[in-house]
Amino acid sequence: MTPASEKRGLTPVLRVAVWRGGEDGRYETFDVPRQPSQTVLDVVTFIQRKLDPTLSYRFACRVGMCGSCAMTVNGAPRWTCRTHVDKVAADGVLEIAPLRNLPVVKDLVADMREFFEKWTRAKGRFVPTATKADDFAVVRPDSPARREADAGIECIGCGVCYSACDVVAWNRDYLGPAALNRAWTLVNDARDGGHRERLEAVSGDAGCHSCHTHMSCTELCPKELSPTRSIAGLKRATIAVALSPGEGGE
Ligand code: SF4
Ligand code: SF4
Ligand code: FES
Repeated sequence: MTPASEKRGLTPVLRVAVWRGGEDGRYETFDVPRQPSQTVLDVVTFIQRKLDPTLSYRFACRVGMCGSCAMTVNGAPRWTCRTHVDKVAADGVLEIAPLRNLPVVKDLVADMREFFEKWTRAKGRFVPTATKADDFAVVRPDSPARREADAGIECIGCGVCYSACDVVAWNRDYLGPAALNRAWTLVNDARDGGHRERLEAVSGDAGCHSCHTHMSCTELCPKELSPTRSIAGLKRATIAVALSPGEGGE
């Protein structure tokens, strides 16, 4: 019987170059049968289960919720569980590597520690102001601040934007789009009590003012968020604080 891929005029076998080893590793090539609706994560899983069980990679949910499966696919960072092979490798050739801008642990596994440490540096943690005795906070869904917070809140921490950002590549101290997007979300949270410290944390040399507005983060975010927009909001807010009376301004 003719495979479905051939009926659709596609190559029946994918040529897949996969990064092996650490920072000084190399690509190893595998042949993987092409399947309908095949994702890049399906390809990696096939290699690990059928061709080389020593291949290391990371995933959990397989449905675009956990953010753990991000890798570099044909040169661009992507969430592999929701990236269909047909969309990124029509010619049947795939090159899969760990996320850029992060140290390599092994094979396709990037070390995410510096990515999440930057969330801590950007004060990306909710600071409660209410006690158990207080009633639920009422935040109007149509208030401008609530809309700003909602716009960035669906981040799944996948690291795609961080990997896509050239400023991170030039300056490894830069907080990066995800941590700054998180900071902006909290700056707009009416229940949070850490606004001032957070704006201070993101206003330094490694903070929002280092963003060159390249938009790569926004173009590649799988959740269709706009860290670029969030960073622009932080730029405005930090400047407003600096210019306000009692903050060293006029
Ligand atoms: S917009 Fe800013 S954070 Fe996003 S990729 Fe460009 S430089 Fe990086
Ligand atoms: S902003 Fe988008 S790309 Fe960046 S970590 Fe969050 S979900 Fe991933
Ligand atoms: S495996 Fe969870 S987002 Fe891909």
